[in-house]
Amino acid sequence: MLQGKHIILGITGGIAAYKSVQILRLLRKAGAEVQVVITPAGKEFITPVTLSSLSGKPVISEFFTANTGVWNSHVDLGLWADAMVIAPATASSLAKMANGVADNMLITTYLSAKCQVFAAPAMDLDMYSHPSTQRNLRTLEQDGVILIEPADGYLASGLVGKGRMEEPEQIVKVLAEHMATPRDLEGKKILITAGPTHENIDPVRFIGNYSSGKMGYSLAARCAERGAEVWLVSGPVSRTTPAGNVHRIDVTSAREMHDACVELFPGMDAAIMCAAVADYAPAECADSKIKRESTGEITLRLVPNPDIAAKLGTMKREGQKLIGFALETNNEHAHAIDKLRRKNLDFIVLNSLRNPKAGFGVDTNQVTIISADGEEHDFPAKDKNIVATDIIDVTL
Ligand code: CTP
Repeated sequence: MLQGKHIILGITGGIAAYKSVQILRLLRKAGAEVQVVITPAGKEFITPVTLSSLSGKPVISEFFTANTGVWNSHVDLGLWADAMVIAPATASSLAKMANGVADNMLITTYLSAKCQVFAAPAMDLDMYSHPSTQRNLRTLEQDGVILIEPADGYLASGLVGKGRMEEPEQIVKVLAEHMATPRDLEGKKILITAGPTHENIDPVRFIGNYSSGKMGYSLAARCAERGAEVWLVSGPVSRTTPAGNVHRIDVTSAREMHDACVELFPGMDAAIMCAAVADYAPAECADSKIKRESTGEITLRLVPNPDIAAKLGTMKREGQKLIGFALETNNEHAHAIDKLRRKNLDFIVLNSLRNPKAGFGVDTNQVTIISADGEEHDFPAKDKNIVATDIIDVTL
């Protein structure tokens, strides 16, 4: 997957810089062309002579080459690269990347890069867990950088904990896997609903469900990786927005989710209805907190929520695809087919709550995908990230 690819290897000033030599060797062995860009501090840890000998190219560090006055164009480099990997990425360089502090050749190259950027943080455990570093990492993720998380282990300081740069083999593997991902959804616009909905009873209470949003967020991440532009209409969950071209629209109630989807759907190529939408909402939401003392026993009157998938089913035009989910506890197959027809879906993804490896809150899912023309695909239990790929492969 790396054969003939142009990779920028960014090296910043950390002890783990010695491991960058191994990353460089592995990339070269896999057939990639590698341009090393190193920060001034990086050169304190590893010499440019070693790096240029192994890469077969002069190492770039400064804006100008001192003896010839040749200008090193970060813009050209940014266009040349198929991927950029910054390993090790120190706390300081991550902070500069997150805030656009372009004071060295590596950061200017990062800001000019048009390709996917990967960063492998490496620092002491307290620096890694500091709120400032964590804030910068979240910002970078939102900017589309793929972070290769540090491992737990012995650190140069003698302490043990999280902060040790991931091993070179693993870093190169992440890169190769990314290169292997097809960009077959390029140009497609996809709406995905995810998470639960909360239906308010009063200003502090709601009716909800156990959906964690994991399946919907995995789908959004995989669609974006494959080149799609994604609109993720999300119920209340605490998850970071997946990297890439993902527009997140946060909603609380089924009504709000309905309105957002109805507005967006006409411009979409497909919609995947993954949210666990509450079927009912309280007929009234109290203006102020309901007090036990004064109210005593209460009866909640619930009214049905709009069926979002069914509504989109009535709006669907030629060429649009609509995919729904069915989470069932009994008579699974018949219920799923009934939903497929009732909501005018093209596919329904069935998972059964009877299977402990499927459903809310677990990392795995076991699905059967049924199409409107009666085709069925059965999959064994897998991690939700891989299930997302199966769903995309079959339905989109
Ligand atoms: N769905 C929706 N809007 C709703 C209810 C469900 O868009 N108000 C979507 C879900 O996102 C899912 C599919 O419809 O893709 C089936 O959801 P499910 O809750 O299993 O079906 P319901 O139609 O609510 O039927 P029931 O709860 O009675 O089984």
